[in-house]
Amino acid sequence: TGVAQVPADLAGRRVLISTGGTREPLDPVRYLGNRSSGKQGVALAETAVARGAHVTLVAANVDLPMPEGVDVVRVGTARELQQEITSRTAEHDVVVMVAAVADFRPAEYADSKIKKTHDPGDPDAAPTITLVRNPDILAGIVADRGAATTPLIVGFAAETGDATGSVLDLARAKLARKGCDLLVVNEVGVDKTFGLDETSVHVLTRGSEAVTDLGPASKSEVSHGIWDVVARSLTVD
Ligand code: CTP
Ligand code: CA
Repeated sequence: TGVAQVPADLAGRRVLISTGGTREPLDPVRYLGNRSSGKQGVALAETAVARGAHVTLVAANVDLPMPEGVDVVRVGTARELQQEITSRTAEHDVVVMVAAVADFRPAEYADSKIKKTHDPGDPDAAPTITLVRNPDILAGIVADRGAATTPLIVGFAAETGDATGSVLDLARAKLARKGCDLLVVNEVGVDKTFGLDETSVHVLTRGSEAVTDLGPASKSEVSHGIWDVVARSLTVD
């Protein structure tokens, strides 16, 4: 199912997308990170441009070629990502938070490299790393929007399902908790790993029981399916 005719339904729309994964430094040479490649956000940026949007892509540690016609802003940490997203949100029609944001960061940053023997009194001791919570960027921009109807805010979630509920149960609860308009849920399981080119997702809409299932298909095809839902949401407000 190729994309023969690309609709121009995002013409003139300003779209802000975050992608990749944040890294939280411990010392000048080490960080806590995650395996998010940034491919889904890059595919969303490329397809949004094809549909006529003006796209800003805030990329956290992404090592991929960037699509033509996209304004790229590079960041490292969750707090840098928060700064770049929060300062731009009001001037956009749609914000899509694809980035895997570290929930925690080391409480302290060591200005010089942490040595193997860090305690001369106990040369074999291992250090304990204390973590603190990072800000919830998505919840923050939803709160800043307040009662306004723009921008449309889209969250992403990777869920496995657990003892407390199925993937869709957990996603419904997350959508309600975050307060965003749409939540794109990626089902991650044994045979579904990070960095693959094929993907399948469910798109949930706040205040509606309807679920749009997309894929398994390329990240580009799934992106077009997501923009179909976004474009519909933009025209019904
Ligand atoms: N997100 C964010 N800021 C954070 C953590 C997550 O903006 N500090 C965004 C992600 O970019 C994504 C959405 O929130 O769009 C859901 O991320 P997820 O990690 O699934 O949600 P959490 O609330 O962190 O819940 P948990 O990790 O416990 O499942
Ligand atoms: Ca998280």
